[in-house]
Amino acid sequence: MKTKTRTMLEFEQSFGQPKLKQLQRDLAVEREKVDMLAGTRDKVYVEKQTDKNTLRFALFGDTQIGNAYACPENLEAFFKIAIDRGCEVAFHTGDVLDGWKVYKGQEFELRDIGFEAQLKRLESDVPKGLSVKFITGNHDASFKNLAGISVGKAIEKVRPDWEFVGEDQGYVELQTASGRPYLLGLYHMGGGTAYAVSYRPQKAVEQMEGGRKPNMAVFGHFHKAELLPSYRNVCVCQSGCFEWQTPFMQRLPTAAHVGGWIVEVQPCDNCNIVKAEFIAFYRDRK
Ligand SMILES: [Fe+2]
Repeated sequence: MKTKTRTMLEFEQSFGQPKLKQLQRDLAVEREKVDMLAGTRDKVYVEKQTDKNTLRFALFGDTQIGNAYACPENLEAFFKIAIDRGCEVAFHTGDVLDGWKVYKGQEFELRDIGFEAQLKRLESDVPKGLSVKFITGNHDASFKNLAGISVGKAIEKVRPDWEFVGEDQGYVELQTASGRPYLLGLYHMGGGTAYAVSYRPQKAVEQMEGGRKPNMAVFGHFHKAELLPSYRNVCVCQSGCFEWQTPFMQRLPTAAHVGGWIVEVQPCDNCNIVKAEFIAFYRDRK
């Protein structure tokens, strides 16, 4: 039996044991956040693959489920292509849901109002067939900021084929069947796109501490697609999006690169062979 301090006993007498337990749980969560923010600990999820020396995976993000401009039908087509090409796993770079009042007038772009409605849309309209590891982004965080909802955990509950790996960033180590590792970093940044598409991710990679750099850094948030094969020895990718250009984006103006990546990596002794295809979708002229 654990020993309780005098202060704990006094607190328990005044407020009861459930309250104390709740506070202890909250403290553990906050400590974990501080450790992660301080860079002392990154939780790394491991994903093992069956091919001897080749890793295959899909990258996508900014699905903005709940927004009238989201396009889950294109996401479905993307999943089919990824599965046809032998992918079993996909990584999502955040903004799974569109959230609420993220910017002025965002609520008028919604087809699904509120957290429950957006979660329901995700449950029913987002395709199945790939095991998805995801981070949450600033749009998902709007529900946390307004109502304290842990969006990542709630998504895992309605979609057991989705695994939550972090808020704003997360790390997944892929391993070939022969045991070779390849570290993926998933990031969801804040702010707007710079005049050059690659500028913000480049800056983020420049600021990464030595020893914490992944083999591949995949960025969501900007709704752009790009691949920089090697920058500070990191393969840098922007994951695209599955939402057409919204009125907000037209006003800025900033483009939406709708689509996702299918990636094949062969980790070797002193090199990594990376092949990446971007599946780009275009809007029907109606
Ligand atoms: Fe987004």
